[in-house]
Amino acid sequence: MQIVRNNVELFNALAVARLQGNIIGFVPTMGALHQGHLSLITESQTTCDITICSIFVNPTQFNDKKDLEKYPRTEEADLKMLSAANCDVVYLPTVEDIYPADWICPEFDFGNLDKVMEGAHRPGHFKGMSQVVHRLLWLVQPNKIFMGQKDFQQQTIVKKMLALLNWKVELVRCDIVREADGLAMSSRNVRLNKDERQQALAISRTLLQLDKIKFSSPIDFCNWAISELEKQSLIKVEYVEIVDTITLQAVDNWNTKQELVCCIAAKVGEVRLIDNVLIK
Ligand code: PAJ
Repeated sequence: MQIVRNNVELFNALAVARLQGNIIGFVPTMGALHQGHLSLITESQTTCDITICSIFVNPTQFNDKKDLEKYPRTEEADLKMLSAANCDVVYLPTVEDIYPADWICPEFDFGNLDKVMEGAHRPGHFKGMSQVVHRLLWLVQPNKIFMGQKDFQQQTIVKKMLALLNWKVELVRCDIVREADGLAMSSRNVRLNKDERQQALAISRTLLQLDKIKFSSPIDFCNWAISELEKQSLIKVEYVEIVDTITLQAVDNWNTKQELVCCIAAKVGEVRLIDNVLIK
């Protein structure tokens, strides 16, 4: 595994592979890696010749300063995991790589997509996220980018960004990897204490009970889910929404041919968690 720490080393690491027409798969991350991240590496390896993972804790996408300060940084363990997973290249960019002094960050008009759910609760988050992913894609120039369904709205927005730019990078959406008891894996889970960890389980448990037959309408389920979650003393719900997977508009009935997704965001103690399920 090659470790590159700036964009010149990055260019050199990929130059030969690119000339030989190899398919380059890219997995952007903020580190503190877990099996969820590694599943994206594995997915890339199944269809790409070279897999590159980046680790960069991007300050501009954190709307909460405390969240940024507390974000786990575990470079040594991350590198070990990536090496064991046979990742080909790890890119640990410098701040200057991502935000050079003369770089003008593009701004995108995502319409409704960045106004709802996470967009409504984390002002500026998607602006920072889309700008860093744009910059990383520009530097890495992959053929495919692998992103998790876990951050459903994020991957929808990146897909839209690629469409707006007519950029022929294929976005592959990868399934959510869960702990054995159902909790969606997240770098933030390590910050949960024992009681919070136990109560956090209510999020996935509630989502897994979403059954169109049992609930007369999406709002019926959402209201029930909020009341279930708020039975937990340490949980504070931010939103429960059922939306169209393409427009991210909330739907008011089940009679639609569009794929739907139910998304939850909640604080468990001080830790903000998100999760979702696609609705069959
Ligand atoms: P990060 O939270 O590190 O996540 C990196 C990728 O791993 C994202 O595509 C995310 O959806 C995916 N992922 C996280 N948890 C997962 C799980 N349990 N199962 C499957 N995939 C999972 O998302 C970011 O970083 C950043 O916003 C980034 C895109 C790197 C831009 O800074």
